[in-house]
Amino acid sequence: MVIVRTIDEFMQSRKKLNGSVGFVPTMGALHKGHLSLITRAKEENESVIVSIFVNPTQFLEGEDLDKYPRKEEADIEICRLAGVDILFMPAIDQMYHKDELMLAAPKVRGYILEGEKRPGHFDGMLQIVMKLLNLTNPQKAYFGKKDAQQLMLIDQMAKDYFMSCDIMPCEIVRDHDGLALSSRNVYLSNEDRQKALSLSRSLQKATQFVMAGEKNAAKIIDAMREVLSATDKIEYIAILNRSFEPLEEIVLQNSIILVAAWIGQTRLIDNVWI
Ligand code: PAJ
Repeated sequence: MVIVRTIDEFMQSRKKLNGSVGFVPTMGALHKGHLSLITRAKEENESVIVSIFVNPTQFLEGEDLDKYPRKEEADIEICRLAGVDILFMPAIDQMYHKDELMLAAPKVRGYILEGEKRPGHFDGMLQIVMKLLNLTNPQKAYFGKKDAQQLMLIDQMAKDYFMSCDIMPCEIVRDHDGLALSSRNVYLSNEDRQKALSLSRSLQKATQFVMAGEKNAAKIIDAMREVLSATDKIEYIAILNRSFEPLEEIVLQNSIILVAAWIGQTRLIDNVWI
């Protein structure tokens, strides 16, 4: 595995890769969720590129940019063991220039849920993903369903801009107790973690309702709200189709149920695809 930190070094290493390339962009503090993307990229491509870049433009004022977990040594080891070919870890000045052209998230689907609560977040996210995809030029790029709205917007960007790379959705990896893995889980105390379980429990409850034949979105949301009352603040519960349009009734194979809630100072998201 080569570790590169500048665009020039990256381009030199990229030229040496033959065959199909899979790419996994991350912000580091790697866990088994990230690893599942890397493993899949490895299975489906001849070479794998991973990037680790805590992208400042997708953090809003007052968010956790400065305290976002950084674990460079452990991350390098995880990538090495996973058989990554190029690990790209650029500094900010390698990725951003003065007075840049900026991408903007679509006005409706980019400004509901996460986009409403974190206005501007998706502009910055799309900006860096576009840069990274252009730079790495992979056949396939891998993204987790954990960040469902992010995945949908990246997929739209690839289509709207006629990009040639395939966007590959990957399943959510959970801890043994059901909590969706997230780099931000390190912020949780033992007590917080118990409260945090109500996110995945609320989604389990929703799934049980659907399996029992309940289709009504409002009823499912009410049942979820009860489970989520264990969190410190519910930000949203939503039932949407896979184009992120609201649903009154569940449509099997085309629904996503999403939640966001606060546990103390930590904001967590989770979802299930039905
Ligand atoms: P990050 O939060 O580090 O996540 C990198 C990738 O790992 C994303 O595609 C995310 O959906 C996926 N992922 C995270 N937790 C997961 C889990 N429990 N199961 C499956 N996949 C999981 O998402 C970002 O970084 C950034 O926004 C990025 C796309 C890198 C742009 O800066």
